[in-house]
Amino acid sequence: MEKNNSKNIEHVKKVYIKTFGCQMNEYDSEKMVEVLKKENYSITNHSIEADLIILNTCSIREKAENKVYSELGRLRKLKSYNPNLKIGVGGCVAQQEKTSILRRSTSVDFVFGTDNLFDLPEIIKKITSGQKICQTKRHPRQKIRNFIPDYTFKKTKSFGIKSFLAITKGCNNNCSFCVVPSTRGGEVSREPENIIAEAKNLISSGSKEICLLGQNVNSYNAKDTNFVELLKNLDSLKNMERLRFISPHPKDFNNDLADAFVNLKSLCEHMHLPLQSGSNRILNRMRRWYTMETFYEKVNLLRDRIPTATLSTDLIVGFPGETDEEFEMTMEAVRKVRFDSIFSFKYSPRPGTQAIKYTEQISENIKSQRLKKLIETQEKIILEKNNILIGSVQEILIERENNNLEKTLSGRTRGNHMVNIENCDANVGELVQVKIIGTNKNSLIAKPLSNNVF
Ligand code: SAH
Ligand code: SF4
Ligand code: F3S
Repeated sequence: MEKNNSKNIEHVKKVYIKTFGCQMNEYDSEKMVEVLKKENYSITNHSIEADLIILNTCSIREKAENKVYSELGRLRKLKSYNPNLKIGVGGCVAQQEKTSILRRSTSVDFVFGTDNLFDLPEIIKKITSGQKICQTKRHPRQKIRNFIPDYTFKKTKSFGIKSFLAITKGCNNNCSFCVVPSTRGGEVSREPENIIAEAKNLISSGSKEICLLGQNVNSYNAKDTNFVELLKNLDSLKNMERLRFISPHPKDFNNDLADAFVNLKSLCEHMHLPLQSGSNRILNRMRRWYTMETFYEKVNLLRDRIPTATLSTDLIVGFPGETDEEFEMTMEAVRKVRFDSIFSFKYSPRPGTQAIKYTEQISENIKSQRLKKLIETQEKIILEKNNILIGSVQEILIERENNNLEKTLSGRTRGNHMVNIENCDANVGELVQVKIIGTNKNSLIAKPLSNNVF
């Protein structure tokens, strides 16, 4: 009997998946896990013991793309320990670079595009017989619109208390700096009933918070259901505790969506509203379709209704032709809006985009100086804003226990602040009421209110 068991163990194949980039890629990697489980693979966190390694890649900036090639360099050595090891590259770099990845990295056995993760079983069969495969063909739009996961959700570790749920795929905006429309294709909205079915599955698997994903979530439209209607339908689901979404585009943020923050119980009072630049001339050259004036109006739509709502944003410094004065306008916007957090990036020229052709590229040195100034300014704002929160009562969704700190739990407020709670005996997945008692650079410190688990 024992002998049989050990034989079975020998035959369990192991896959190691490394995910780069955004939440959409994390979501796709979760799907890959499910697809591969059906093919008898178990997940390993150690590349050394894997039979199959998949890199789910990102090409948003050059640095992200380079990471993939240096990772492939490291992984190549593993093939000398395990000649049966197969290596695959998926995601946005795969979609962009296609067969040139196979040429550049001879250790790669297969390349698959952003639409092809459900083709993995077929691809794996082919590579087992020694073929090299590049499958980056887009699926027909109808297939994506009707897409519903064909696997059953199980209570596995990969489905935690916080889940992502993609409602659209691709993007039609063609911002002049951005590679995503070419790596993910044009925008397609999934059918509302499929989204609802997936949300119900997630809730019954233990999810307490669902974050809707899309490159421009608030342009969602399928079967006469717009984004706000979809939010209403999701909010009304039994046991939907917390609902979030990323990323809305400022051009599509309207009164109805602002009202939804007031009317929908589960919708958390936080919005990530990407600004990119504080200069109207640069915004125009970025093809963002709003001005600073309209951006401020949008911010006020939310803040007039919910003054405590939190806001985060994305900013790019050193876009081609950005002058010192135009960079100052971004600094001014940050000081005026007082975001609760910012994600700021040095402009990176990307293949196939409009802005790569612009002359007046800004030097690396100036980009670094601007980024540093921006981050320093934001750090001061965060410190001031965090101090204001001391003494306030917040609802926290407990995400994890901190092993190194005794009885300290971590979680997030509805406004998305990270909070460490001292001496708290609640469980992961519970919602607890806490009082904020201090702040660190990147998080708040809290103590539980008594009898507060609800
Ligand atoms: N769809 C989302 C953004 C996806 S990319 C939106 O429109 O907000 C995430 C962020 O990466 C962008 O908001 C932008 O700030 C940044 N980014 C995209 N392309 C970039 C580039 N070429 N160089 C630097 N930052 C970039
Ligand atoms: Fe890229 Fe712009 Fe689309 Fe966002 S909205 S994914 S930045 S093209
Ligand atoms: Fe990167 Fe693709 Fe996401 S380029 S940011 S992984 S959509």
